[in-house]
Amino acid sequence: MTANTRIVLSSDHAAIALRQAVAKHLVTLGYEPVDIGPTTPESTPYPQHGAAAAQRVASGDCALGIILCGTGQGIMMAANKVKGIRCGVCSDTFSARMIRQHNDANMLSLGARVVGEGLAMEIVTAFVTAEFEGGRHATRVDMISALEA
Ligand code: RB5
Repeated sequence: MTANTRIVLSSDHAAIALRQAVAKHLVTLGYEPVDIGPTTPESTPYPQHGAAAAQRVASGDCALGIILCGTGQGIMMAANKVKGIRCGVCSDTFSARMIRQHNDANMLSLGARVVGEGLAMEIVTAFVTAEFEGGRHATRVDMISALEA
């Protein structure tokens, strides 16, 4: 990753506890979690939280983002509507590594009702420690960006 070690975190109500566990895990890995909530358990729509986290990444304030909802799917869809965001839902470590290495993903989405805490931490580690490989993959990522134009 770059010198910017800030990683934005957000979720809906379904994933508050797992998000807070991810924040603690990121500190042990040497990253600076930027947890933008929410912190209270009331039902809250995932699109606004996915978009808010995505804006932090798209603006360059944070190098990466990790977002969570019940399945990881809805909040991922919202984040991917923000220009410059490439976010994937992962339930395994192989995919988490590959979306960085091949797709230059800048956000990871997790489903708190899908993965347990232990696996989630391994997925997070795989995602934040992997590096984009560039080369032929850069051409393909550029093609994704072109779709936003
Ligand atoms: C909330 O009940 C749930 O729909 C949400 O967390 C998420 O799974 C949507 O994709």
